[in-house]
Amino acid sequence: MNKTILVTGGAGFIGSNFVRYMLEKYPDYRIVNVDALTYAGNPANLKQIEGDARYAFEKADIRDRARIAEIFSRYQPDMVVNFAAESHVDRSIDDPEVFLTTNIIGTQVLLDTAKQHWKLHPEDKYSREFKQGVKFQQVSTDEVYGALGKEGVFKETTPLSPNSPYSAAKASADMIVRAYHETFGMPVNITRCSNNYGPYQFPEKLIPLMINNCLHDKPLPVYGDGMQIRDWLHVYDHCAAIDTVLHHGVNGEIYNIGGNNEKANIEIVKLILETLKKPESLITYVKDRPGHDRRYAIDNTKITTQLGWSPRYTFEDGMKETIQWYLDNQTWTEDVVSGAYMAYYDKMYKDR
Ligand code: NAD
Ligand code: TYD
Repeated sequence: MNKTILVTGGAGFIGSNFVRYMLEKYPDYRIVNVDALTYAGNPANLKQIEGDARYAFEKADIRDRARIAEIFSRYQPDMVVNFAAESHVDRSIDDPEVFLTTNIIGTQVLLDTAKQHWKLHPEDKYSREFKQGVKFQQVSTDEVYGALGKEGVFKETTPLSPNSPYSAAKASADMIVRAYHETFGMPVNITRCSNNYGPYQFPEKLIPLMINNCLHDKPLPVYGDGMQIRDWLHVYDHCAAIDTVLHHGVNGEIYNIGGNNEKANIEIVKLILETLKKPESLITYVKDRPGHDRRYAIDNTKITTQLGWSPRYTFEDGMKETIQWYLDNQTWTEDVVSGAYMAYYDKMYKDR
């Protein structure tokens, strides 16, 4: 069946993997990628599919109501998957404001526009009828639940208790999505995934940063004691989970996504050093992140038992492949680190 999926933030890490995943899996789907191309958006991530007639790219900011309305009118999307966000906790500590405007207001602009297009009787505020087959899917994070101690896991029913400006903005967006479902009857799902790793991740995040520093024999900055725990999932498994929820998720439900794979940061740093045959003397303990969440762990029972999704990657295989990808794509990382990737859009799109 033909469908048009509007993906926001599709030039970023997870979004670009998702766009590729969907085009490969669904020959009849059209994907419209709406991305503002902030520092984190790199259209070169999607070089291989630029010529695909089923793919369209729109450089636009999700906070820009007029542009988003124009894009909806032009493409008439059946579904929205909202990845677009400011995503880095350390940046949110330095400059929170853009996290609030993009992550919260941007999400609300998308919801409003989708509601206007999808409601069968848009002028009737009491009508809760929407077109068949439409859905708004919000890509959220386990960080909205806050931090865990040594014991326990995040369930979908765990109260939200975000600690960073990033996670507070993501939690706010989740609340707005929920409100549009409750108040207007809008078909929505929210997914909350644990930390992702894999190809095309911006080298400001733990794993690509450590790989890149290792490759250049630079110190590896470990925050605090390095014993903070994250629950890692390969980005392809996250993409498959989003696809599962998009097609089979029960309207209005929240699904946690994770692969039961808790690791302390220092374990990961040591694994990267060992794989790249570099000395542990590169490890440098630095001042801890303010408000650093100690531990995240996802209970994935709901999505595995109710929707039949399960992760395919083991952490060992996923990390081996990921490290190899960064070894094979060093010019990608160099372009990102040097800022050269910023010129790519002008080169590729200025005459289109
Ligand atoms: P990323 O920073 O790599 O990509 C974000 C993308 O959004 C970029 O392409 C950027 O240009 C775009 N963008 C930013 N502001 C925009 C705006 N105002 N309008 C339009 N586009 C804009 O992020 P990521 O790691 O791929 O994360 C994607 C989503 O998944 C985010 O919503 C994040 O909260 C969520 N998430 C990430 C992880 C993770 O481990 N990376 C885990 C769980 C959930
Ligand atoms: P990060 O990749 O920024 O993801 P998040 O903060 O969203 O979980 O960081 C993952 C963990 O790695 C987190 O506990 C902070 C830590 N970290 C370091 O120790 N050093 C670094 O240079 C970075 C970027 C992160």
